[in-house]
Amino acid sequence: MSDHNEKRFEGRTAIVSGAGSGMGLLECFKLAEEGANVVMADVNYEAVAKAAEEIRQKGGEATAVAVDVRKYDQVKAAVDIAMEKYGRIDILINSAGGASGRVFGRTEGFRDMDISIIDWGIDVNLRGAIYFSRAAIGHMMDRKSGVIINMGSITGEQGAPTSIDYGATKSAMNGLTKSLALYGAPYNVRAVCVAPGPVLTRPNMANMKTPLGRAAEPIEVVDFILYLASDKAAFITGSTHLIDGGRNCGGFR
Ligand SMILES: NC(=O)c1ccc[n+]([C@@H]2O[C@H](COP(=O)([O-])OP(=O)(O)OC[C@H]3O[C@@H](n4cnc5c(N)ncnc54)[C@H](O)[C@@H]3O)[C@@H](O)[C@H]2O)c1
Repeated sequence: MSDHNEKRFEGRTAIVSGAGSGMGLLECFKLAEEGANVVMADVNYEAVAKAAEEIRQKGGEATAVAVDVRKYDQVKAAVDIAMEKYGRIDILINSAGGASGRVFGRTEGFRDMDISIIDWGIDVNLRGAIYFSRAAIGHMMDRKSGVIINMGSITGEQGAPTSIDYGATKSAMNGLTKSLALYGAPYNVRAVCVAPGPVLTRPNMANMKTPLGRAAEPIEVVDFILYLASDKAAFITGSTHLIDGGRNCGGFR
């Protein structure tokens, strides 16, 4: 299916939340190209159904599942489908998320923000990652193999006055990752967090400055995530990895 000469994920199964768009979507195409069965979970079922069909047409293996990560029964159903269909879960990527104010087009500050918007931010970015980890990790522990990748953000490192709940939940990915890593380590289950700076999954991310003077192409982050999911990264666990064009050093331009 691909001209990629490596098939790092042949016979493995990956579940990706937020697989309908952006990096989650690209991860599914790349994982499938390298031999993985991908379970594509998103609240936007139409998007994942279309993408899964495209992957199958290219000779890959993909299953789309309608999942609102805020609902544990739906999260568990996606994990159950992965187990029934493919018999194992090797990789979980918790990619569903986003800054609530941006997602809902809200410009009022935190002091006036609707609690429903804040709740969405907490629930999708944090609760969803905890729920998916809870549903999947037992299967990984049983097989003594697996990796969970959580999406943090530069905002979780630096904070942002416009994204209070987002900053909080993305910092929380750090503690979630460390705790999962300690819990999973005796069973050879790893957990890592990837904290990107601006990524061009939407053009306006170019407005966020970095010392390198640009935002990342999605593939730059996705390639790194796939490396962390691969056997080459077998000794990496419990850590948060910035991929931010130097933004965390300051001196933006
Ligand atoms: N794009 C960036 O610049 C950037 C920077 C740092 C971190 N991140 C993080 O990386 C991850 C991916 O970002 P992106 O820009 O590629 O994403 P995106 O905005 O393109 O896609 C997010 C996906 O999550 C899905 N989603 C939303 N609510 C959901 C729910 N309740 N249940 C299931 N799915 C739901 C959406 O339908 C969408 O398909 C996010 O966690 C984001 O916070 C992104």
